[in-house]
Amino acid sequence: MTRQEALQTLQVYTKAPNLVRHHLAVEAAMRAICKIHSARTHNFENEEMWAIAGLLHDADYELTRNTPERHTLYLEEKIGKALPKEVLYAIKAHNYKYTKATPISAMDWALYTCDELTGFVIAAALIQKDKKISSVTVEFILKKLGEPSFAKSVDRAQIQACEQSLKIPLDQYVGIVLAALQGIATDLGFEA
Ligand SMILES: [Fe+2]
Ligand SMILES: [Fe+2]
Repeated sequence: MTRQEALQTLQVYTKAPNLVRHHLAVEAAMRAICKIHSARTHNFENEEMWAIAGLLHDADYELTRNTPERHTLYLEEKIGKALPKEVLYAIKAHNYKYTKATPISAMDWALYTCDELTGFVIAAALIQKDKKISSVTVEFILKKLGEPSFAKSVDRAQIQACEQSLKIPLDQYVGIVLAALQGIATDLGFEA
């Protein structure tokens, strides 16, 4: 599956512009984490696969909103055969609490951890005075992560899992994901 095909598939199932943007954010984060992880471990990782996992991970979200135990399994039924098996597994693993597909590979863990972090970065951007994502700093995000009342639905432990699973310290991980999202600011609806 090419990026263009993944994007078209996403748009078949996902109508809300915010949710499309969430997928673009996770795609950008996945590409950035893939590059860093590959460089650090000297293990070649397939960036296009990581990107497609990001681009499609919540494609069935609108259709399974009231049945979270079906989230990702519905997508598997619809398009599972068109996806590389590693991509399908990573997608299911981001909802492992229901699917029982425990994250194993670096791609699985990257998707699981950056899914929450991208949402948190967007939340941090929206409270900037100028509402620009370019104004957000790593320090600001780290400070806000320590405030349980801010974006309280975001699971901090899920983000923090980057340290154990990917061996990337939290501050660096935040920096990687923040830079990736700043790089596609306008696609995410922010002023450049
Ligand atoms: Fe999800
Ligand atoms: Fe997500």
